[in-house]
Amino acid sequence: MTRLARGDLLPKILTPPPGPRARQLSRSLARSEAPGVNTLLAGAPNVLWQEAKGANVLDVDGNRFLDLTSGFGVAAVGHRHPRVVAAVRRQSGRLLHGLGDVQAHPLRVRLADRLRRRAPVDDAQVYFAISGADAVEVAIKTALLATGRPGIIAFDPAYHGVTLGALHVTSRQEFRRPFAQHLHSHVHRLPYGCRLAAVEEALRGGHDIGAVILEPIVGREGVIPPPEGWLAGVADLCLAHGSLLVADEVLTGFGRTGHWFAVDANRVRPDLLCCGKALGGGMPIAAVVGRRKVLAAWEPSGEALHTATFLAHPPACAAALEVLQVLADEKLPRRAARLGSEIEHRLLAWPDEFSAVTEVRGRGLLWGIELASRDTASVVSRAALGQGLLLLAGGARGRVLQLLPPLTISERQLDFALELLEELLAEF
Ligand SMILES: Cc1ncc(COP(=O)(O)O)c(C=O)c1O
Repeated sequence: MTRLARGDLLPKILTPPPGPRARQLSRSLARSEAPGVNTLLAGAPNVLWQEAKGANVLDVDGNRFLDLTSGFGVAAVGHRHPRVVAAVRRQSGRLLHGLGDVQAHPLRVRLADRLRRRAPVDDAQVYFAISGADAVEVAIKTALLATGRPGIIAFDPAYHGVTLGALHVTSRQEFRRPFAQHLHSHVHRLPYGCRLAAVEEALRGGHDIGAVILEPIVGREGVIPPPEGWLAGVADLCLAHGSLLVADEVLTGFGRTGHWFAVDANRVRPDLLCCGKALGGGMPIAAVVGRRKVLAAWEPSGEALHTATFLAHPPACAAALEVLQVLADEKLPRRAARLGSEIEHRLLAWPDEFSAVTEVRGRGLLWGIELASRDTASVVSRAALGQGLLLLAGGARGRVLQLLPPLTISERQLDFALELLEELLAEF
């Protein structure tokens, strides 16, 4: 039985989170699951999700939250969108699992076609992947196959995932240091938004650069938009030097920034575009959309050189097709742009209004509120949790509160969340 019939409700806290049931389940989990993921930070009990709908999450103690994380950016169309759920149900009743890369199914054919038409990539084809990091791995491998050059320019900060291949281009030392011995030396790292002359120098400088990978707006590492004209400048340099431009739109894709893809705002058309998260509307699926000529480098040699058992999983393809249609029907990229410009003024005033806020950055429904310290960010996000707001702190130094609600969040919910945050920030 579901208790969240609608997803447009305000938070309601019945028992301070984590409540008794969450504490009990946290203790069981700590016995059974390996440590390391953040579910139980420092072994402390945490909230457990029972249900989600629209912008609401219900925990196992009956507390109702407003999800300003969109479940890591996945629920762009809202949690459990009825059309997505119906599509998954339909497909699950027909074909739950297929034969991955060896034999396709009709929805995969349709999804590849929709994606290649929708993404801002010239003469595009699609290479499916399982997760964002997997898509990044496909892009990195494609670049080497297509150019024969092992060098990669990546930026600092950047988050591209933490599987071993993606970790090469992810910047944060916390993630990299323990595995440094497994990381190769082909990645040349530059500051995000650096002078274009520095990018050009690196492209010329004997690093044998096959690919430049970037987030069109840095996401998890602090919500950092690039300087005006920078993306287009990097794209031009890639073209001039025969290196491939890889846009990692795993977080920014599918309307989040007020455009279908963040590069659309700059009229940049990358050679390879990684996407995932929101694509599946809650089902795990990702993809690289790339130029046909570039992806031709994967010409079959008897074995698929990069694949996975669950490649283009049928219910995930059904969900993704529906997500693309919902985004278009409900005009959600445009809605994100409108809501973004409506709250922009209010958010940009926060550094003047609240001494704890040092900077606010973002666009559409992707905002980063940089606070004075990691401690302040963690106190505010914990206090927000207590009042019913799910909010993550990110950024290289853990002090950027990230606001990325579902693109379907109601105006009342959004206003409520901002008002609550203003109250919390006023306490510092
Ligand atoms: C820009 C970007 N790329 C890649 C990833 C990795 O995606 P996944 O966690 O699905 O592997 C993320 C995840 O946050 C991301 O934000």
